[in-house]
Amino acid sequence: QELQMNLDQIEKGGFDHFMLKEIYEQPEAIRDTYRGRMLPEKGLIKMAGIDDHISKFLNAKRIIIVACGTSWHAGLVAEYTFEDLARIPVEVEYASEFRYRNPVINKDDVVIAISQSGETADTMAAINLAKENGAFVFGVCNVVGSSISRATDAGAYTHAGPEIGVASTKAFTTQITVLSLIALKLGKEKGSISNSDFNMYLNELELIPAKIEQALESNNHIIQVADFYKNARNCLYLGRGFNFPVALEGALKLKEISYIHAEGYPAAEMKHGPIALIDEEMPVVVIATKKGHYEKVVSNVQEIKSRKGKIIAVVTQGDQQVKKIADHVIEIPDTFEAFTPLLTTIPLQLISYHIAVMLDKNVDQPRNLAKSVTVE
Ligand code: G6P
Repeated sequence: QELQMNLDQIEKGGFDHFMLKEIYEQPEAIRDTYRGRMLPEKGLIKMAGIDDHISKFLNAKRIIIVACGTSWHAGLVAEYTFEDLARIPVEVEYASEFRYRNPVINKDDVVIAISQSGETADTMAAINLAKENGAFVFGVCNVVGSSISRATDAGAYTHAGPEIGVASTKAFTTQITVLSLIALKLGKEKGSISNSDFNMYLNELELIPAKIEQALESNNHIIQVADFYKNARNCLYLGRGFNFPVALEGALKLKEISYIHAEGYPAAEMKHGPIALIDEEMPVVVIATKKGHYEKVVSNVQEIKSRKGKIIAVVTQGDQQVKKIADHVIEIPDTFEAFTPLLTTIPLQLISYHIAVMLDKNVDQPRNLAKSVTVE
């Protein structure tokens, strides 16, 4: 018994839970994701799975991304990245819907399946359907040798290392990293981004792990914020552009481990429904970084304030405007818009983690959830 407990503690590396350990592992996990692939001094991204099939990607009329859960959110971020950098139209599908919808799949479609475990039944079924229809299927998996990594025509591992906590954290940010590398590589090949922009992106991506470390330094402040909102019954998460999927992911994290009802919304859609819910009982987490529709998000924040909603804003270091209106602000370092999800996600993971701990929930094994869902 005692030995088991000690083993458990060793595995958690001094952290109380795997989830917290995995949150803190993100800088290293992301370095592991791009190590050997990104060569800024040569102005190059090397990825065998892409290099070997480059014409498939360059000739693709569209990319269809299939995934479930958090991996689907990473797919949504990738939609913005691929379209912005590589100018390839992207559709992001829940694997469970795609497989039963009689979808239109063409031979020149590239299907990207994203799965941490590489074992999700719905994602696997979507892959099989895509293959039957002649599409080229590329996998983004974490678990090496997993079923999905074997079923796909080619792929790229995230190299995040084992993720034990049921609530996905480092898998998400490393998926975004891999997908950003692919988008950058294709953007360069296609000429949709200039060589100098490509190099700037590479240099910036190399700074991301250190910037995540900086974001993690807000942990103590986030504990105070969590304490303030731990008894909320509902919570709204808002973001725009690249950070709309992060809002969805932030809400999912809170639901999964704290059992607090939370919804993520694109900030501008607030006026079409969720605004009706806002009162002094309603915390609203707003991602309001300087890059990407900042002024528009500021006006959303004002609308929430005038309805007495409580505002927790994730802002860029040095922000002045939102700070004046929000009840709590959490700062993250500045970066390129396409990389902001890698930073804005961090405080949202920590908020849900600390709330779950304060509510005495089983953080690593939340009720009714499984790490990988191998049945329908
Ligand atoms: C389950 C897990 C989630 C995960 C989803 C997809 O619901 O609890 O954390 O995001 O499956 O899993 P996958 O392994 O395919 O990424």
